[in-house]
Amino acid sequence: MLTFLELTMMLLGIVHFGLPLFYYVYIRTKLNRPWNLNIDRDYRPRISLIVPTFNEGDFIEAKLSDIVKQDYPEDRIEIIVVDSASSDGTIDLAEAWNARHLNYNIKLLTEPDRRGKARALNLALRHAEGEIVVVTDADAFLRQHSLKEAAALFSDSTVGAVTGIILAERRKNRDNENAEIYESIYRFHHNIIRIAESKIHSTPIFNGQLMFFRKDYLLQLGGFSLDVGADDSYTATLVALAGYRAIAVPEAVVYEPMPRSMRSYMSMKARRALHLVQTFRKILNRLPRAPSRFKPVLAVEAFLHLINPWLLLASGSIFLLSFIVDGPTFLKLVVAVMIVGMMLVKRAREFLFTWVANQLILAYSILRSFRSHELCWKKIEK
Ligand code: GDD
Ligand code: MN
Repeated sequence: MLTFLELTMMLLGIVHFGLPLFYYVYIRTKLNRPWNLNIDRDYRPRISLIVPTFNEGDFIEAKLSDIVKQDYPEDRIEIIVVDSASSDGTIDLAEAWNARHLNYNIKLLTEPDRRGKARALNLALRHAEGEIVVVTDADAFLRQHSLKEAAALFSDSTVGAVTGIILAERRKNRDNENAEIYESIYRFHHNIIRIAESKIHSTPIFNGQLMFFRKDYLLQLGGFSLDVGADDSYTATLVALAGYRAIAVPEAVVYEPMPRSMRSYMSMKARRALHLVQTFRKILNRLPRAPSRFKPVLAVEAFLHLINPWLLLASGSIFLLSFIVDGPTFLKLVVAVMIVGMMLVKRAREFLFTWVANQLILAYSILRSFRSHELCWKKIEK
């Protein structure tokens, strides 16, 4: 017989692991569905490509060279670098690069002080002349066809926003191998879910490393919000709530180098989680009016980001409590053996670690979100 505590622990655990698993299995069935869009693959709209920078001296030249390697007609790209008072000469390096590549249309904007990425993006937006605005981080590198594949999707007028999918860059001989392993596991599942959600209607989670917006829609929203850190996911969710598609596509791939140490990797994850939590908290009251096909996706994601982490913590705490109250019963032994069993298998151990770490980071971020917005964040060494 199960005790009351054991029953509660089981129920919470089943919901915590069962719901995401069920969602994952269900959503995977949508992965290979057609887009349900009318796409002209040869469509090449004029694009304004914004690169926001704060102390990106290590990356800016490589980033600009990476952009011009894209197979997109030169005369249809405008590059806008917007720098917020970097102290490492980022803008000088960008200027020097520009002097060597005069055939590109490039604008260099500087802010006198740093007030966050969103504000910098809004400044760039006022200078953007293209129909499509692309935002791409200085420390993110694109696979060669990413730009043209994503831009062509805007030939369908229902597409409002597009994001790329991220692969954690694997570098040899580095001391952050674990961060690369955990990030790869996370990204693998994350990317599948993003694409599948996009096939249904839209995904609320965008990757600021590479995102495209139809400029008119962005202007209708008043640009990037200045009170939410997630310039990516929050903006995309607003686009989807307005009825346009906000989609993640597998053709647009971005490579991202990982932070130097496990510690800085964790603090990067914590900030990104905080920004996602802010997004879901802020759009919660608009959920009832979401487009019908987007609504379930948004509801599940809001649940997974705001509530589900607490179920794991509650279930784990009750497990310990029940150990004290009822002693080591059969059920607890089974659970303990299952956990130890998973720890012994490398792949299972890595997955468990990634899962639990993400849940703890989310729970911590939910608490933090009541007092911190983190619109300007600490630069993480790569
Ligand atoms: N101009 C300007 N001003 N650019 C900034 C500022 C700022 O105050 N802060 C950061 N940036 C630039 C960085 O130089 C980089 O190009 C990009 O914005 C992203 O910042 P990172 O420091 O690299 O953060 P990240 O890789 O974790 O960013 C991810 O999460 C953010 C939200 O937490 C990406 O998805 C971002 O796009 C997203 O905004
Ligand atoms: Mn980055």
